[in-house]
Amino acid sequence: MSKKRVAVLISGRGSNLQALLDADQSAYEVVLVVSNVPGAAGLERARAAGVEALELDHKPYGKNREAFERDLDALLVQRNIQLVALAGFMRVLTSFFVRAWTGRLVNIHPSLLPKFPGTKTHERALEAGETEHGATVHLVVDEVDAGEIIGQASMPILPGDTPTALAERLLAVEHKLYPRCLAALASRLN
Ligand code: GAR
Repeated sequence: MSKKRVAVLISGRGSNLQALLDADQSAYEVVLVVSNVPGAAGLERARAAGVEALELDHKPYGKNREAFERDLDALLVQRNIQLVALAGFMRVLTSFFVRAWTGRLVNIHPSLLPKFPGTKTHERALEAGETEHGATVHLVVDEVDAGEIIGQASMPILPGDTPTALAERLLAVEHKLYPRCLAALASRLN
């Protein structure tokens, strides 16, 4: 079975991207990284790994989200991308892009979905008095954070935890979860 050609979309630091690059890439190969934020730290991580890294700034597109996504889609198609992984990509995608990549578009979200879709997941888990927290890798569908769950990993919430402490501890969990789930998805696709 051939490795799936993966593009990773980022907006910032790219620690999950790093985990995908460092993991066993026998089922997938990260061949492209695109950031919608110019100068995002994750771009350097890609270049250091010898992976093509591009900036596609969404700002010049203004409110025309679909025009941005059409250009993004063209970049992916030109490079024969088979699977798109969102890793801290902080833009909601329209149904144009979601439909173009249905079943081949995956995201990591910092909560145990269906709990806490959207933002501020760590604050909300603490406020709700949860005793455990976690991360979910899921397929992307039109509804935010609602697609098929590929995998989840959890950890206990400890006395005195703050949103920052939780976010930091959860990252280590995410870094193990995401490569495993991406490999599983890559293996089941044609
Ligand atoms: C991660 O915690 C990821 O789960 C979260 O952003 C962080 C990105 O960190 N994603 C979302 O909140 C998506 N809605 P990274 O840039 O170091 O991978």
